[in-house]
Amino acid sequence: MNKDDILLALRSSRSGFVSGADLAASTGVSRTAVWKHIKKLEREGYLIEAIPSKGYRLTSSPDVMIVSDLKRGLKARTIGREIVHLTETASTNTLAMDLAHKGAADGTVVIAETQTGGKGRLGRAWTSPRGNLYLSVILRPAVPVHKAPLITLMGAVAVAAAIRENLGIPAGIKWPNDILIDGKKIAGLLTEMSAEPDRIRHIVLGIGVNVNMDVRELPPEVRKTATTLAAVTGTRVDRTALARTLLAGLEKWYQRFLKNEADVLDAWKELNVTLGNRVAVSGAGTMLEGLARGIDAEGRLIIRLDDGTLRPVTAGDVTIVKGKT
Ligand code: BTN
Repeated sequence: MNKDDILLALRSSRSGFVSGADLAASTGVSRTAVWKHIKKLEREGYLIEAIPSKGYRLTSSPDVMIVSDLKRGLKARTIGREIVHLTETASTNTLAMDLAHKGAADGTVVIAETQTGGKGRLGRAWTSPRGNLYLSVILRPAVPVHKAPLITLMGAVAVAAAIRENLGIPAGIKWPNDILIDGKKIAGLLTEMSAEPDRIRHIVLGIGVNVNMDVRELPPEVRKTATTLAAVTGTRVDRTALARTLLAGLEKWYQRFLKNEADVLDAWKELNVTLGNRVAVSGAGTMLEGLARGIDAEGRLIIRLDDGTLRPVTAGDVTIVKGKT
């Protein structure tokens, strides 16, 4: 029993009030322990009214996720069996890499309300105020090292599918792993790996979704090209429900990846908004322009240059120059 159980009991009370005796009975602890948990919740920003003849009533909650709420209905074989939730951390990816190094189990999820040093692709920062989703999943797939990039594509499929399923919005994937809605970035993925030449030790799949943050908190340089789910839907989005759908989707897509990675590539192709367009790819000091023809079995983007040469690209930023004709 912990304070989350008390919180869930307070939240599910129809009349609002739950007596200390009922809370103690339903959670299996003493009334003193209940009182201590109530005090702890108050220190975390919950407002709880206490009336001696009636008991306790939750009057307002800070917008934080609760692990037991997140786990509700989740049939986690791997992803989310262990969930580490933090109010604040430098980067969930950094913490997850550290935990993985210390032996954390396959599927462990690290989730934070805010990050003080969120990391983006290509050494960029990832703006991480409260109100969004920041999570990293530790994976230990028994696949060859060159298959690792497919894990990021698998994550992108799960994120786009979760947004579609949860909110009914047609999110798409821009190679390699930006999630877009109407051409604007809503989420990004950053994969980090520890490997030996012939073996993956662990992979950390980091996912950041712009959910309820104020769009004015986005850095000025990305304000035109990025957005949030709240801005798209015009309403606050339930982060816990979205995170639950995402974790269930990651479970499904991770198992499919382990069984038959071609399924992931097929799903990625279905959801992508890159292939078939004329694109410019920048990265590593070079710029390529041509037709985005396809992706190969290792997730590389195949560009057909204007002289007809096919060029596989491993990393970079893609801009769509001209839509499908
Ligand atoms: C990108 O599109 O540049 C990738 C962004 C990845 C951000 C997420 S937020 C959770 C995890 N922790 C980090 O520090 N980064 C990833």
